[in-house]
Amino acid sequence: MEKYPGKKNTAVFISGRGSNLKSLIKYSKKKNSLVKIILVISNNPSAEGLKYASRSKIKIYGNKKKSNFENKSLKLLKKYNIDLICLAGFMKILSGNFIKKFSKPILNIHPSLLPKYKGLNTHERAIKNKDRFAGASIHKVTEKLDSGKVILQKKVKILKSDNVRSLEKKVLKIEHEIYPKAIEMFLANL
Ligand code: GAR
Repeated sequence: MEKYPGKKNTAVFISGRGSNLKSLIKYSKKKNSLVKIILVISNNPSAEGLKYASRSKIKIYGNKKKSNFENKSLKLLKKYNIDLICLAGFMKILSGNFIKKFSKPILNIHPSLLPKYKGLNTHERAIKNKDRFAGASIHKVTEKLDSGKVILQKKVKILKSDNVRSLEKKVLKIEHEIYPKAIEMFLANL
C-alpha cells in the first residue's frame, strides 16, 4: 500500500554530491508532485547527499560492502513499500538479480545524449569528438548498462570555449530541470 495516497513511494540511490537528489527532494515537496521520497540509499556512506537527505528528515542507508549492499537494500525497499527507484549519480551497476527482485520501475539520469556515450567520462568524450551538442537523458534501467528506453532528454550547445568543467556545469543545470519532468511523464504513462 502507498504510504502517501496519490504519490509513489520513492527511493533515490546516490554515490556522491547529490545535486540531483536535491532537485528531486525539492520537486517531491510540491503539493502536486507524483512522488514522496521515503528513502535515500548510497554505496558510499560518506556521500554528501546522505547528509542533505538526513537533514530533510528522509531515511538514509549507506553501505559500501559489495557483498550485501543489494540484499540489504532490497529488504529496505520492501519494508518501506517503495514503488519507484530513481538513480541520481549512482555509480554502481545494479545486478540483473536486483532489478528482477525489485520488479518495479527503476529510472536513471545519465549525462549524455543516449545512445551516445554510455558509461563514464561522457563530457570528455563529447568534447574530444568535437560534438556540437551534449546533454542529459533519463531512461529506464535494464540489465544492459545505460541502454533502457529513453524517457526524456535535453541538449545543450558545446561552445568552442567549453571545457569538461564548464560543460558539466551546463549539463547539470538541465539535469535538475528534466529529472522531475521525466518522472511526471513516466508515471503519467504507466
Ligand atoms: C550527474 O551528472 C549524473 O548525471 C551522473 O553523475 C552526476 C551526479 O551528480 N551520473 C552518471 O554518470 C551515472 N552513470 P550529483 O551527485 O550532483 O547528482
